[in-house]
Amino acid sequence: MLEFQNVTFRYPEDHLLMMENLSFSVEDRAFVSVIGASGCGKSTIFRLINGLEQPDDGKILVDGKPIAELRQYSAFMPQKDLLFPWRSVEKNICLPMELQGVPKKEQDERCAEVLGQVGLLDYRKKYPKELSGGMKQRVAFARTLLSGADMLLLDEPFSALDYLTRVEMQEWLLHQWEHFHKTILFITHDVEEAVFLSQSIYVIQERPFSEMERVEVPLTYPRSRSDLKRPDIADLKERLIGKLRRGVSL
Ligand SMILES: Nc1ncnc2c1ncn2[C@@H]1O[C@H](COP(=O)(O)OP(=O)(O)OP(=O)(O)O)[C@@H](O)[C@H]1O
Ligand SMILES: [Mg+2]
Repeated sequence: MLEFQNVTFRYPEDHLLMMENLSFSVEDRAFVSVIGASGCGKSTIFRLINGLEQPDDGKILVDGKPIAELRQYSAFMPQKDLLFPWRSVEKNICLPMELQGVPKKEQDERCAEVLGQVGLLDYRKKYPKELSGGMKQRVAFARTLLSGADMLLLDEPFSALDYLTRVEMQEWLLHQWEHFHKTILFITHDVEEAVFLSQSIYVIQERPFSEMERVEVPLTYPRSRSDLKRPDIADLKERLIGKLRRGVSL
């Protein structure tokens, strides 16, 4: 569904290319992670996908069409939850619909539906400061879902959470993915998180990069955390960590 064809990109302020002739694809309804050291260009890939940056060369296609011809094909959830502190949960969720001029009654219905789905209907009148970190991320995820896009770009959504909340949120996200049949691209620094969540993992090892190595995770869904202890999975984790460390030392 998503295809990069020989994409080359450099930030105008930068002397070094970020990526050169990069090609990769992500299938419809897949759960794919991108891992790589800090600054290697992970978020830049998302900025290219959602059209915030334009490639210097090459093509980005969704369902075979150039993204410039498409609207609302992807929705981005950044690392920080970006909820407005002065707006209640429901007002935060409704903001994109307000901007699109969706009638108030429809806004309320869609908001209630999605809050029910993420288990936060009782919190709709609360303000962000009254929510835990995990709840705030669920609200941000609900807002991302409401965009109606089939492809969700999640940029380190759980990295600010404590370990136990992060583990809970990972399981929660897999349920959401199974329920909503979306394509998820997930950026993380955390190799274990990538292995637990994804079908495939793309690894960025150097800069500029021309390819991302694709590693398949040999686990089916539903998954349990005890799967991470399987010798082949523990081995996979170690191999991935080794690849990232080689990338950093380059
Ligand atoms: N808007 C921008 N203009 C110029 N350079 C940028 C811009 N955004 C990012 N960069 C540079 O591009 C490089 C890659 O940035 P990017 O945000 O894609 O990395 P990342 O892999 O997501 O890193 P992290 O894991 O720390 O989030 C960095 O060196 C950064 O300084
Ligand atoms: Mg980033």
